[in-house]
Amino acid sequence: MTDFKERVFSGVQPTGNLHLGNYLGAIKRFVELQESRDCIYCVVDMHALTAQLYQPDLPAQTREVTAAFLACGIDPARNIVFNQSQVSGHAELAWIFNCVARMGWLGRMTQFKEKAGKDRENASVGLFAYPNLMAADILLYRATHVPVGEDQKQHLELTRDIAQKFNVDFAEAIAGHGHGEAYFPLTEPLIGGPAARVMSLRDGSKKMSKSDPSDYSRINLTDDADTIAQKVRKAKTDAEPLPSEAAGLAKRPEAENLVGIYAALSNREPAEVLGEFGGSQFSAFKGALVDLAVDRLGPIGAEMKRLQADPAHIDRVLAEGSERAAAIAAETIVAVKDIVGFVRH
Ligand code: TYM
Repeated sequence: MTDFKERVFSGVQPTGNLHLGNYLGAIKRFVELQESRDCIYCVVDMHALTAQLYQPDLPAQTREVTAAFLACGIDPARNIVFNQSQVSGHAELAWIFNCVARMGWLGRMTQFKEKAGKDRENASVGLFAYPNLMAADILLYRATHVPVGEDQKQHLELTRDIAQKFNVDFAEAIAGHGHGEAYFPLTEPLIGGPAARVMSLRDGSKKMSKSDPSDYSRINLTDDADTIAQKVRKAKTDAEPLPSEAAGLAKRPEAENLVGIYAALSNREPAEVLGEFGGSQFSAFKGALVDLAVDRLGPIGAEMKRLQADPAHIDRVLAEGSERAAAIAAETIVAVKDIVGFVRH
């Protein structure tokens, strides 16, 4: 098999309400990975159009996600931080992948089914083809690892299917152009830890989500200390004290969620958290969770505000990152055009 240079890629949509799930499932892990890998982190503004076509706040939301990346500790000098629309290769490769992926593959995507709901005829073509653009985001940089929350697992499986079909269908041209046996890597998802799927604070069976109508269902990265405290205190629980072992969390989704959040925020395992809080009532545990959440999220929210007050600085970070991303993307696009058979002159 061809050896690929290790490279991490991930993206976050600028659709507003960045929340604790985005932080624990994704951004916090982006920060950890920059210690050991080459990383590219993208604000996927082209994806945002699939949520709502005209979004007057899109520029502010794009800067907000960038500010969150920086405030959480992503260093734009060591990593590439940019917004998707500024590198045209994403759209170019997505077109090729529209021709690689099969209707049946996309029709099975649970996120499309959820988002399109009953009125599929009225869903945009972009929403349907969204996973092809996501595959293009990743494979444009031939990324080998993608940290995401669990809700993105199926999209990453599709990304591997697309890479595999491209490698097989174009095998002769790939070898003929000197790229060995495979042009695209079969990217590994990095999903895991106690917060791979953070649930709503109001309903332990639903994912914490930016589109939930109740703001009490999520903790936003920009919530102040009082708001965080109120939301944690109002979070749904059951009537039992906390168990002493992780097995005792089975069938207690709300308890499992709060313990998972505590574990992820304190960089511990749920079993260790239960070692400390097993037998406690929720009131005591929630008090400790409020202190921990305010301690960890307070500085992030404050730094985001500070950064957002200087949009020109954020735009410079994005411009510089886009230039560096475009240089890598250009190599892939040239190679893919050769492999596919587009005449270059
Ligand atoms: P998005 O913008 O919805 O979410 C950004 C990241 O946050 C994670 N996440 C969660 N993790 C744990 N618990 C939750 N409740 C929770 N909610 C969201 C998501 O899994 C994601 O990692 N399609 C992607 C964006 C994307 C992308 C990419 C990601 C576009 N191209 C290429 C990776 C690689 C999305 O909509 O994420």
